[in-house]
Amino acid sequence: MTTPTASMLKAIQECTLLDDVEREDPTTSDLEAHMAALTGKEAGLFVNSGIMGNQLALRTLLTQPPHGVLCDHRSHIVLYEAGGLSFLTGAMPTPLVPKNGIHLTLEDIKPQVVLGDDIHTCPTRVISLENTLNGMILPLDEARRISTFAREHGIKMHLDGARLWEAVASGAGTLKEYCAPFDTITMCFSKGLGAPVGSVLVGTTKDLHHARWMRRAIGGGLRQPGFISAAARVAVDEAFGTKGDGSDGWLRTAHDLAKKVEAMWLDKGGKLVHPAHTNMCWLDLDAAGIEVKQIVQAGEEAGLRLFGGRIVLHYQAAQHGEEILERLDRVFTKVLAEATGVSTLDRVGRANMYSAE
Ligand SMILES: Cc1ncc(COP(=O)(O)O)c(C=O)c1O
Repeated sequence: MTTPTASMLKAIQECTLLDDVEREDPTTSDLEAHMAALTGKEAGLFVNSGIMGNQLALRTLLTQPPHGVLCDHRSHIVLYEAGGLSFLTGAMPTPLVPKNGIHLTLEDIKPQVVLGDDIHTCPTRVISLENTLNGMILPLDEARRISTFAREHGIKMHLDGARLWEAVASGAGTLKEYCAPFDTITMCFSKGLGAPVGSVLVGTTKDLHHARWMRRAIGGGLRQPGFISAAARVAVDEAFGTKGDGSDGWLRTAHDLAKKVEAMWLDKGGKLVHPAHTNMCWLDLDAAGIEVKQIVQAGEEAGLRLFGGRIVLHYQAAQHGEEILERLDRVFTKVLAEATGVSTLDRVGRANMYSAE
C-alpha cells in the first residue's frame, strides 16, 4: 500500500481550507482545472473515491429507463460497486466476455449492442470501458474504434480510468489521446499515485455541472477538502508527471518491477492468469494447485502482505525492488514446492482466489 510522501504532507500544511461546496477553495478548484487541462476536457470535479466518480458519471450520462450499459464482465462498475449502477440509475448492465481475454473490441460489442426503439428491448445508452483493467491496457486504437461506433449511434462513452495513469505511463498513448474518445472519465489519485484520498471526474462543463449536483444529492460535497486535494495534486505532479504522457513521473519503475516479478514466477514454472502490462502480476495459483491461504502464509513469513495471486506493485515499492524480489523469490519457491498441481478452483471457488480490491 502506498503512503503519502513528504512533499504531499508539506502541501497539506500549505493548502487553502475554504468551502468547496460553494466552490471557494483554490486548492481544490486548481486541481480540477489542472485535471481538465491535462486530459483535454472542459471541466473536472473532485470526488471522494473512484466509485463515486463512476457512479456520478453514469448517473449523469443515463437519463431515463429503459437504458442499458454495455461493459466488460470483469469491470469494477459491475463486480465491485455494490450494485450502485442498478439502484442509482435503473440501468440494465450487459457484461461482455472479451474474445481475446484482455480487452473488449468493437467486434465483441457490435453483436451485443441494442439500437433502435423496439419496445421489446433495452437500448444501449452507455458503453463503459475500464483502462487498465486488471492491469491490462486497452489499446488506444480500439478505444477510438469503439467510440466512433458509439457516437454514430448516439451512445455515450464512460471510462473507468482509476488506473489510466498506468496505461499512459507505459507509453500506450497520452492522457489527452486516451480521454478524447470518452464523454466522462474517472481517475484516482490514490492507488498507484499514492495520495491518501480522492479521485476526479472529467468531461464537459454541462455534464460536470450535473455530476456536481448529483454529488451534492448523495452528500459527497466536502466543505474543506483542501488538505486532500493538495496531496492529490502533488501525487499527480510527482508520480505521474507534468507532461501528460507519464514520461517524467515514477510509475514506470513499478512496471519494470512487475515484469521482473512475472519473469521470476515464470522461471520457476508458474503460469499466469493475465500478462503484466503495467504494475500488476497475476499468478495462476489455481493452475498450480496452490490455495490463497498458502501464499498469504508464505508472504507473512517473508514479511510481505499478500492477498492471493494478484500482486500489485507501485513506485514506493519499486524503491525497495531488490529486497522485494528477494522476498518474493522465497515465497514463490515455497508455494511452488508445496503445489499439488491439481486445480483448487472446485474446492475454494474463484471469487475467493482473486480479490479486486
Ligand atoms: C478500476 C477501478 N475502478 C474503481 C475503483 C474504485 O476506487 P475507490 O476504491 O476509490 O472507490 C477501483 C478500486 O480499486 C478500481 O480498481
